[in-house]
Amino acid sequence: MSGRKTVLVTGGTGYIGSHTVVELYENGYDCILVDNLHNSSSQLVANLETLVGEPIKFYQTDLCDKKGLEQVFRENRIDSVIHFASLKAVGESAKVPLRYYRKNILAALNLLELMEQYEVKILVFASSATVYGDATKQPGMIPIPETCPLGPTNPYGSTKVIIEKLLHDLHISDEKLWKFAILRYFNPIGAHPSGLIGEDPSGVPNNLVPYMAQVASGKIEKLRIFGNDYDTRDGTAIRDYVHVVDLAKGHVAALRYLEKKDDENEGICREWNLGSGTGSTVLEVYNAFCKAYGKEIPYEIVGRRDGDVINLTAKIDRAVKELNWKPQLDVADACESLCR
Ligand code: UFG
Repeated sequence: MSGRKTVLVTGGTGYIGSHTVVELYENGYDCILVDNLHNSSSQLVANLETLVGEPIKFYQTDLCDKKGLEQVFRENRIDSVIHFASLKAVGESAKVPLRYYRKNILAALNLLELMEQYEVKILVFASSATVYGDATKQPGMIPIPETCPLGPTNPYGSTKVIIEKLLHDLHISDEKLWKFAILRYFNPIGAHPSGLIGEDPSGVPNNLVPYMAQVASGKIEKLRIFGNDYDTRDGTAIRDYVHVVDLAKGHVAALRYLEKKDDENEGICREWNLGSGTGSTVLEVYNAFCKAYGKEIPYEIVGRRDGDVINLTAKIDRAVKELNWKPQLDVADACESLCR
């Protein structure tokens, strides 16, 4: 038996999950992966094993199957959990809200009940900047601090808010016991430099950068830019794109922070934004992508997309100060790693 700490990673074969697994191994942790492979494949586990240079324990289990999940807790000694597994498509969530509420919330409930039963007290929860909704409607909230009032505008975001609230309530019920980190991601992009793991959603992607990648590979004819009449430097909307490898490192930083609290016998439930702290327009990202790709990809300007807002840029001071984390990579790095 190694003296390493074991982290249960739900959604461990997903985009952010798989990058985080690599960082965890690089930082001396052992991981157990649980995933239903709804949006990924078991090939990812093999690629991860190649990257980390050792076998990784993997369970193909849906978190809504509590018996299946309990087997994972029964068979392993788990020190902490990072919970990524979730349905996550904003548009889809508006069409099938019942599915989103059922799956995302039941998964969290099952996981937390088992953590309580098996005395696992440390959890990093994958939340999203979508919990803020349209922060531009509130004066002085760009860049967005963690204290910005929440106002999700889609069922996916609502499920994240509900789970965040659940974590706070649980923490209040036993203030010394639980150690919870809530990480609110802005727009993750890029991929591991090895090219072995990355974002590969089945079907037509919704997000800007994977969409451009499919245009570049010829799967899609052209990029449609949703609106160039926003009040920004070039008329297109601003987002905070954070490199997925930086994001992954943020999870290790949060885990360390919680472990320190545990050593000090203190409980905590706290939110941290993980973004780059810098806003980029759609055209700026487009230009960075074309530069990395080596030629221009076709695009057209179309009308604004329903539900889009002008600017979502993170204030990241809290994570920088408290988690001792700082993003190192930018949009150009992300486009380059993706093209590779
Ligand atoms: N965009 C286009 N064309 C496309 C896709 C996107 O012009 O084909 C534009 C969008 O209008 C937006 C920007 O590119 O201005 C980014 O769009 P994404 O769809 O990539 O990302 P969103 O900002 O809409 O949402 C993402 C995640 C959410 C998360 C949010 C947090 O999908 O889950 O970031 O900031 F909540």
